[in-house]
Amino acid sequence: MEKQRLDKIIASTGRWSRREVKNLTRQGRVLVDGIPARSAEEKADPETAEITVNGEVLAYRRFTWIMLNKPAGYLSATEDGKGATVLDLLPPELQKQGLFPVGRLDKDTEGLLLLTNEGGLAHELLSPKYHVEKVYYARVAGRLTEEDCRAFAAGMTLGDGLVCRPAGLEILAAGEESEARVTLREGKFHQVKRMLACLGKPVVYLERVRMGNLPLDTSLSRGEFRFLTDAEVEALRNF
Ligand code: URA
Repeated sequence: MEKQRLDKIIASTGRWSRREVKNLTRQGRVLVDGIPARSAEEKADPETAEITVNGEVLAYRRFTWIMLNKPAGYLSATEDGKGATVLDLLPPELQKQGLFPVGRLDKDTEGLLLLTNEGGLAHELLSPKYHVEKVYYARVAGRLTEEDCRAFAAGMTLGDGLVCRPAGLEILAAGEESEARVTLREGKFHQVKRMLACLGKPVVYLERVRMGNLPLDTSLSRGEFRFLTDAEVEALRNF
């Protein structure tokens, strides 16, 4: 791999800012193959050099994968003149890495959103060809029934002509307001809301709780993120 500046490599982990890397380097706390770096601008091959920061060997990854517990009020976009985007929830160093959301959640939808700069795998996860499951927790106005579940399972055609593949609707609670787990294998615009509205049960709250074989990490508070582990990224490749 091409050599890169140490401050860029180290800041890409999201744990230290470039300014912090500069200070740590001055203090002799950044080593490249055991030798203290002279400056944060020094270059190294992040795939072959052993870089140590504060005595800790850096685990470099070519691509970044992040799980965000998206709060309501943020757009799933990389830039927007009008409002806050999910990238605003990340520290500045991570905002410079060309990350983008893997698919979209509506502004008012919460829960699991992946962000990455690995275009190929992101594209596969979203491609209708691969039918990656997306699971949502939904609260709706009105009483959900077994008939609604059968309509989901049969594949619905919405009033505007949108043809939906067979999908899962599991009722968790039924009453004046009902709760359900919805499983889709595609991702059309506002799909969960449109399918449930078509049954006369408009969504009042929506949260994504799983994508492929990756559940939302419930230890993350709304607005918090963490890096995926190597095993999780590998599991995504084998969705
Ligand atoms: N379906 C919706 O209607 N909204 C989302 O945010 C995701 C799926």
